[in-house]
Amino acid sequence: MALGGKEAFYTALADELAALLDGERDPIANAANTAALAYDRLEHVNWAGFYFLRGGELVVGPFQGKPACVRIPLGKGVCGTAAQRRTTVVVPDVHAFPGHIACDANSRSEIVVPVIDGSRLAGVLDIDSPVLGRFDAHDAAGLAHMVRVFQSATALDTL
Ligand code: SME
Repeated sequence: MALGGKEAFYTALADELAALLDGERDPIANAANTAALAYDRLEHVNWAGFYFLRGGELVVGPFQGKPACVRIPLGKGVCGTAAQRRTTVVVPDVHAFPGHIACDANSRSEIVVPVIDGSRLAGVLDIDSPVLGRFDAHDAAGLAHMVRVFQSATALDTL
């Protein structure tokens, strides 16, 4: 992607997501379309989807990619770490991240963005790439924008 291109790309993607979710409040429907849009539009991505907090642990939600591990305790793996810290975690090399949970052996880098509903942790958006160092600060900002669009369109309290 051209230098400076990621910001414009993510602005357009957030607009596209807002249009896609417009008029629908269902959390499963909106999470499914958010994951599908991310998987379809982002380059060099082999998994995109959600884990939602259920009974104190993360449980896999709508996603695109290979079948994934179902339950992740808070604090475990990249997803559980982002959920526990309530901050976005960018992992340039998953093999260098202690405790990384390998769902697809092709994954080399990963980004996880928490979904915070008010003061409550609702879950995380997780994106994996087969390319080392695929995600940078522009991706973190752009995906956080996507999560905000998803949240404002969605009745997360009905999840
Ligand atoms: N790699 C993640 C697990 C989920 S899969 O990538 C879909 C982790 O370490 O939390």
